[in-house]
Amino acid sequence: MTIQEAMQSVENIMFEVVNSDVKTLREASRHILDAGGKRVRPRLTMLAYSALGGTDYTYAAPPAAAIELVHTASVVHDDINDHGVVRRGRPSVNAIWGRTFALLTGDFLFTKVYELMASYKDLNIDLAEATVALVEGETLQAAAVKENNFTREVYYQIIARKTAALFKSAATIGAKLAHADEKVIEALGQYGYSVGLAFQIIDDILDLTADTAKLGKTSGIDLAQGRGYVAAYANNGHTGVAVAEAVVEDSDLMTSIKAKLLKGDAINEARIQARTLAQTAIACLDVLPESQAKRELIDLANMVVDRDH
Ligand code: IPE
Ligand code: IPE
Ligand code: MG
Ligand code: MG
Repeated sequence: MTIQEAMQSVENIMFEVVNSDVKTLREASRHILDAGGKRVRPRLTMLAYSALGGTDYTYAAPPAAAIELVHTASVVHDDINDHGVVRRGRPSVNAIWGRTFALLTGDFLFTKVYELMASYKDLNIDLAEATVALVEGETLQAAAVKENNFTREVYYQIIARKTAALFKSAATIGAKLAHADEKVIEALGQYGYSVGLAFQIIDDILDLTADTAKLGKTSGIDLAQGRGYVAAYANNGHTGVAVAEAVVEDSDLMTSIKAKLLKGDAINEARIQARTLAQTAIACLDVLPESQAKRELIDLANMVVDRDH
């Protein structure tokens, strides 16, 4: 079985598991899954598994699907909180079905993870810890904006939990499924963690530089809400919340703040940070024997920082 076939199996599992007889849950889940998405997290699991000698994709696909469902649930809920109206190139679940059904669809997707993970013993702990971290990260972010302390230090604490933890668990779970030894599991976990940090830094850059059509999701949200890499960077002068308040009051001011930020060093610096993290991630793969899957893990780390959507 190839990685492509393994990813097809992940797709099939996700669609099967959301097949509820409750129409709204079924349709809203299909809507968000059908829209695609990069599927980078389950791909990471499958590549880690394969790079460590795993060949039984029917065994590895359910946890990979569970990881993608955690992520999918998190973006459905995230769009409620962020007032995102476009996701994966389509109207978001909240934009079509409203907040109540979006909340419930996210709950449904999160809860389906139990079913997929039931027979995977200790791997449940890895995924549960990552999911807790994700919720903590989203909470710390909302609190930092509210309390007006969106500093760079706080920014890194937030992205470590809301994004890097799930990437780390995706890699760790792939390695554990292949029965890798402790040292290798640790190295793969570090790889996933660094890739996850880089991924979120680039996501924050794109929120500012790319438009909604290109991104397939509502852009400009971070600046409007006084957060993200650039808000943290700009914090010595404009605090995150000061930016947000200014933006809400005056859309011309938003354009001028954005222009100022785009001209400054923040974006360049963010790119350099993300590249460094990708290199750190790639160095963690030295413990792996050469293979096609290893090369694809290297490509994945590079893709994360070179992407434009
Ligand atoms: C979006 O993740 C949420 C972040 C952690 C930045 P992705 O960019 O992986 O979203 P999809 O799955 O491809 O839509
Ligand atoms: C994503 O943060 C974090 C999640 C865990 C959902 P963002 O708010 O930056 O994600 P997007 O940009 O809406 O995908
Ligand atoms: Mg968002
Ligand atoms: Mg974003």
